[in-house]
Amino acid sequence: MEKYIIGNLKMNLLTQAERNHYLASFSSELKKSKFSNSRVVLCPPMVHMEKFAGVFRGSEVQVGVQNVYFEERGSFTGEVSPLMVKNFGGEYAIAGHSERRRYFGETNEVANEKIKIALKSGLRPVYCIGETEDERRKDLTFEVISRQIEEGLLGIANTQADRLIIAYEPIWAVGTDVVPESNEVMEVRILIRKILSELYSPELAERIPILYGGSVKAKSAAQVCVDPGMDGVLVGRESLIPMEFLKIANIIDKS
Ligand code: PGA
Repeated sequence: MEKYIIGNLKMNLLTQAERNHYLASFSSELKKSKFSNSRVVLCPPMVHMEKFAGVFRGSEVQVGVQNVYFEERGSFTGEVSPLMVKNFGGEYAIAGHSERRRYFGETNEVANEKIKIALKSGLRPVYCIGETEDERRKDLTFEVISRQIEEGLLGIANTQADRLIIAYEPIWAVGTDVVPESNEVMEVRILIRKILSELYSPELAERIPILYGGSVKAKSAAQVCVDPGMDGVLVGRESLIPMEFLKIANIIDKS
């Protein structure tokens, strides 16, 4: 399966100068790489999305957003429609990220609405799931993940499911520099694949990429992605350093 290396730039790149510097440095680093089996995706803040889409048009890099609203248009002050994202050059939308769950009360049900409308609008949803430290200690990982998948993917038909991307991000590993062992990631990958097989079919489940996210760095890419057989990564902080981000992409592409 094709690999996905997705950068979540979060709420960074505060000035035009900073953004332009990032884009220039990313483009120059990109020239040194050739990916044969991977998609490289950047999800910048919404204000930068159109610019990113323009700069990377026709290149190997695709663009997405970190969040969308679950209606197409109308009186929803402050929100952004997935159809707008699509029309301005975006191709992916993250849903259910742990920071959205924690700070904005995004539930599995809300993520489900966003996933459905993202699919309808022609975007590929990147659905983030994962357990907290406390849930892990109480041995609830499997239960939490199962619920997140079943509720988050409710009502998504077989015909659309192969456009989904799942990102397993153990919350205790996001933004912490702590990463799980390969076998821990592998166990969850197997569980996710099993749940997807039951929801859809084993053949379809095989076609849904399952990524790892949480403190991914070049030095941990093998441990959290290659060794446990993941289909790529969702990268936060390291995606702000083009050289490091592309180093991760190269490790995964060449594996
Ligand atoms: P991190 O963030 O790589 O900085 O841990 C990952 C994420 O939030 O997707």
